Amino acid sequence: MEFRQARYAERMLKEYSSGSSFFLHQDEIPDWIPAEIRRSSLILPDVSEYDVIRHFTRLSQMNYSVDTGLYPLGSCTMKFNPKYADKIASMPEFSEMHPLADESLVQGSLQVMYELQEMLKEISHMDEVSLQPPAGAHGEFTGIRIVKKYFQDAGAADVRDEILIPDSAHGTNPASAAMGGFKTIEIPSNSNGTVDVEALKAALSERTAALMITNPNTLGIFETEIEEIARLVHEAGAFLYYDGANFNAILGKTAPGKMGFDITHFNLHKTFATPHGGGGPGAGPVGVRGKLAEYLPVPLVRYRDGKYMLDGSLKHSIGKVSAYFGNFGILLRAWAYIKRNGSEGLENVSETAVLNTNYLAKKLASTYLIPKGKLKKHEVVVSSENTGRRALDIAKYLLDEGIHPPTVYFPLTVHEAMMIEVTESASRDDIDTFAEALIRAASEDPEKLKKLPQNTAVGRVDEVKAARDLKLKW
Ligand SMILES: Cc1ncc(COP(=O)(O)O)c(C=O)c1O
Repeated sequence: MEFRQARYAERMLKEYSSGSSFFLHQDEIPDWIPAEIRRSSLILPDVSEYDVIRHFTRLSQMNYSVDTGLYPLGSCTMKFNPKYADKIASMPEFSEMHPLADESLVQGSLQVMYELQEMLKEISHMDEVSLQPPAGAHGEFTGIRIVKKYFQDAGAADVRDEILIPDSAHGTNPASAAMGGFKTIEIPSNSNGTVDVEALKAALSERTAALMITNPNTLGIFETEIEEIARLVHEAGAFLYYDGANFNAILGKTAPGKMGFDITHFNLHKTFATPHGGGGPGAGPVGVRGKLAEYLPVPLVRYRDGKYMLDGSLKHSIGKVSAYFGNFGILLRAWAYIKRNGSEGLENVSETAVLNTNYLAKKLASTYLIPKGKLKKHEVVVSSENTGRRALDIAKYLLDEGIHPPTVYFPLTVHEAMMIEVTESASRDDIDTFAEALIRAASEDPEKLKKLPQNTAVGRVDEVKAARDLKLKW
């Protein structure tokens, strides 16, 4: 048996406690903490420094990460995190900056934000960008609030109460629209896996506030009719929203502004340096065109009279959407990544991501079903339905082989879906190893597959119980 991870019978930290619980002695609590907010009931495990360090080190050895191997989660873009970006983000000049410091003392940080705004404008062909939202979904929600406020100001909010969303969309799109108080209308895909334009025409009306769409879509297919779609949406008096989570497919090739979009968000934590991570820190700046520029969240960073400054004066701004300046550490990484790559480098990122995806797709095509269309962009969805094996079991096989599985069971439009995004940072060797393991899995004994994984730190968990019987505290 080949083990792929360390395996410890690791206990909970509190179980290393010497028995008694630890609480700060009253004398150790600084005087300046007002009596009324001092806690008297916080029970901390009484563990030594080395118990804590060993506990977390052992846990990290049982883990799999983007620094350990390929992480091909489709829609999640777990590309390699360049260490220079981390290094810059850890520089004390940035990391120890106080968010309330006077503008004159933080000119360098403001310059970074200003330059990032400008670079994102150029990349997206938008007129104005706000760096505030701290996640992709939050960028969507911000964009939706902009649409809402625009129609409120125009006295049409009661009429324009629908957002159209293709059935291939990421789940956050309908969630953001619903949170913004809109009804969501699903637009079906056609047999090519792209938006059914006839169905779109039928759904568009004076009630439509916006169409939210990602291009390429979650099947990795480019919506070639996007200009016609933009024309139809605008003709109906609505806005076209670009879910920019898949920017790594189009960098330097096209841009939402060129395709006719009015609003876009960026997932800086997917395309520009930081991997998507399991709920880790992110940044979802929002860009808009034309008349929507006055609606962006504030502050924006401006450069005037040789100084960088925060500008909170937008006439119709929806206000602030996050504390201080958004997720500065992620903004900084994205700034470093874009500067380091330059426009040629970014174009190369996209070309390599697309090439890697198509190389993989070709290798898998004789083993798995690849629905809809031959040429893929940044990701490919394959179905294991034809193999008689479940996507979940194949994912567990990969874990046993020391390889992180792709996203499974998304998008919902494909049965037994495995959504794969190897990204531009995978080497040919990585892709070959991954493809060979997937191909082996398809002829593995189905009964054996059900008992996997066996070589990992944790075996197969009861996923239904894990989802339905949440224990978030103990
Ligand atoms: C297509 C798409 N849209 C939106 C999002 C939401 O981004 P976030 O997870 O940062 O909220 C994702 C996330 O993976 C995505 O893949």
